[in-house]
Parts: sequence; C-alpha cells; structure tokens
Amino acid sequence: MVHKVKGAIVRSNNAPVTLETILVPDPGPGEALVDILTCGVCHTDLHYKQGAINDDFPFLLGHEATGVVSAVGPDVTSVAPGDRVVLNWRAVCGECRACRRGEPQYCFNTHNAAQKMTLEDGTELTAALGIGAFAEKTLVAAGQCTKVDPEADPAAVGLLGCGVMAGLGAAINTGNVGRGDSVAVIGCGGVGVAAIAGAALAGATTVIAVDIDPNKLERAKDLGATHTVDSSAVDPVEAIRELTGGFGADVVIDAVGRPETYKQAFYARDLAGTVVLVGVPSPEMTLELPLLDVFGRGGSLKSSWYGDCLPSRDFPMLIDLYRQGRLDLDAFVTERIGIDQIEEAFEKMHSGAVLRSVVEL
Ligand SMILES: NC(=O)c1ccc[n+]([C@@H]2O[C@H](COP(=O)([O-])OP(=O)(O)OC[C@H]3O[C@@H](n4cnc5c(N)ncnc54)[C@H](O)[C@@H]3O)[C@@H](O)[C@H]2O)c1
Ligand SMILES: [Zn+2]
Ligand SMILES: [Zn+2]
Repeated sequence: MVHKVKGAIVRSNNAPVTLETILVPDPGPGEALVDILTCGVCHTDLHYKQGAINDDFPFLLGHEATGVVSAVGPDVTSVAPGDRVVLNWRAVCGECRACRRGEPQYCFNTHNAAQKMTLEDGTELTAALGIGAFAEKTLVAAGQCTKVDPEADPAAVGLLGCGVMAGLGAAINTGNVGRGDSVAVIGCGGVGVAAIAGAALAGATTVIAVDIDPNKLERAKDLGATHTVDSSAVDPVEAIRELTGGFGADVVIDAVGRPETYKQAFYARDLAGTVVLVGVPSPEMTLELPLLDVFGRGGSLKSSWYGDCLPSRDFPMLIDLYRQGRLDLDAFVTERIGIDQIEEAFEKMHSGAVLRSVVEL
C-alpha cells in the first residue's frame, strides 16, 4: 500500500517551501514507516533549500524528528509498531572498517530506506539527511529509529535527532571536554548553544559564548555560558584570550562554519588545544592559514559529524539526563509551529528570534 500524505518540498534552488502530496510506500526489508509527531527546523534544511548540500532536487525537508513506528518490514526486529522513536541519520552498518574496529560512531556506510518516496507524478524525492520528516509519515531504515521513553516531550527530545546532538557531541565526544576545561563556542544557534550545554555538562568551568547577535548570547547564558562575547563589537580572539588568563581556551568549537569563524577558533585556542568544526561550510569556501602556525601551535583540529554520536548509546542517555532535570532540552524549543510555517521559521533563523522552531504534525 502507498500512503498519501502532506510533505514540505523544495523543488529547485531557493524555491519557496511548498506543501505537496507525497507518496510513501509501505516498509520493505530493513525499513520502518513512522508517523511523525514533531520535527525541528535546522539550519541544514535551509542549506538544502539553497542548494548548498547537493543538487538532487526536489527535496523533502525535515530531519530532527520524533515519531511513532506504524509498520516495519518483514525482517525488522529492532523496533515494532507503536514504539516511540527519535529518528537519526546514523544507521550504522556493523560491517565497514570503522564498525569492525569498534568505532561505529564513524560508520562509513550508514544507510537509509531503499525505497524512494515520490511526488504524485512519480518524481523521486531526496529526503533531507535520508529522513524527510516535515511530513505526516516518512519511510526510513529501521536503524534510523532509536526507541526512546514515550513519556518525554516529543518536541524536546526530537532535537537530539540532529542539531542538539551535534552540538552536545561536538563538546562531549569530539572535543572531549573534561572537568575544569575552558571552552569557547562561536555561533550560538541551536547547535552552538547545545555545545555550551554539553561543555557545562562535562564539567568545563569557563564556557565562553561568542555570537554577533546579543539575543543569542542572552540565551546562551541560560544554558551554561559563564561569559559572553559579542564578536560584532570586539575581536573574539582577544576577548577569549583575556577570559582565559591570556592563553586561549582548551577547546574552541566553531558552530558557524565559515573561514573567518574557523580562523577565530584556530587562534583563540590555547597551545595544544583542540578546535572542533561542527558548523557546515558551503562548497565554495576555502581556508588559508600559515602552515607554520598549524604546526607550531600543536594540538588537534577536528571536525564533528553529528557530534560523533552513536544514537543507540547517546539518545537514551541524554533523555535520562533530560528527565532528571540535568539537561534542559525544553529550553531549545522556542516555538511550536504548523507545517505551513517553515518559511517563516527560516526567516526567524536569520533574525535570531528563535533557537529552534519545532513543527508539530
Ligand atoms: N556537524 C553536524 O553534524 C551538524 C548538524 C546540524 C547542524 N550543523 C550545522 O551547524 C551550523 C549551525 O546550525 P544552527 O542550526 O545552530 O544554525 P543557527 O542559524 O540557528 O545558528 C547560527 C548562529 O551563528 C551565529 N553567527 C552567524 N555568523 C556568525 C559569525 N560570523 N560569528 C559568530 N556568530 C555567527 C548566528 O547569529 C546564529 O546565532 C550550521 O552550519 C548547520 O548546518 C552541523
Ligand atoms: Zn559501518
Ligand atoms: Zn540538522
């Protein structure tokens, strides 16, 4: 059977998001059909719309979602109809060289549903990050479903499906932030503020939020920033050094992903410190740095895909912390909107009005 539901589509480069009828097939082997409850609006959806990820239009947007499994393929045992799940874009294969060496969080062969969702005329859709959850139903690989506590607010925990997990993991997993560390985070949108929360959770004692938008800096304080720097007004490298005894931070996280913010991160870190790039650059961006500085300053320059998370390990653990009141996922949900308000949510992303708009389906 094919399910006809509404989905949020971008047909061509920078075309407005339109609500269209899409066709979602029943799950085949290894697949799960999920009724979506909530889906956050992530900057990566906007990157898709702008053609900054690839040209495989039309896109079915949305990928930070909570849902309920409604059907599974014949061989699926990991989830069952009725399970509350958070969707992930790291369904690990168990067989690639990363998985074999016991590092499935780097799986080089993650998978999505084999069948395609389509428009009514049969045009195949590209689901954002292999998920496509701005729709009443979506089809994913069963491994993209992480079973979670059904009592937790879907809007809040669904954000672990992308941006919040990316930020938390950039600090905790990739940056390996530890007790007593100093951490600076450049860019305090959903991802950056999550990195701030992650740094605080991991025991960092100096957590510096950097943004060009004072509203974002205010919110960063609520989630664990001990200091804020408005980089539209002052040199962030100097400011971070001043706040860290003149040395720079142990870990600097670039949650913007532009050459200028990366350079700030590079020079605002202490000798032997760590830079984590979690913001996603666009294809035309290039970076120029004196190679002698790369060598001379030591330490490590890392990038963080999805916060180096392992959904099956990290989502339930973080939801436990949330339910115990130790991780404020509610603070990321600025507003709850309808599926017809995604364009407005993109606007608000630019104006700095929200941390996350969450679509309720
Ligand atoms: N690595 C991953 O796995 C992963 C996952 C999700 C999102 N992302 C990426 O993370 C980035 C941030 O996502 P988001 O959802 O938080 O976006 P967002 O738009 O909510 O936040 C971006 C923030 O950066 C600030 N900013 C912009 N330019 C700046 C500058 N020059 N200096 C300082 N601050 C600046 C903005 O004011 C805003 O607060 C995006 O590039 C997104 O694609 C990466
Ligand atoms: Zn693998
Ligand atoms: Zn995302």
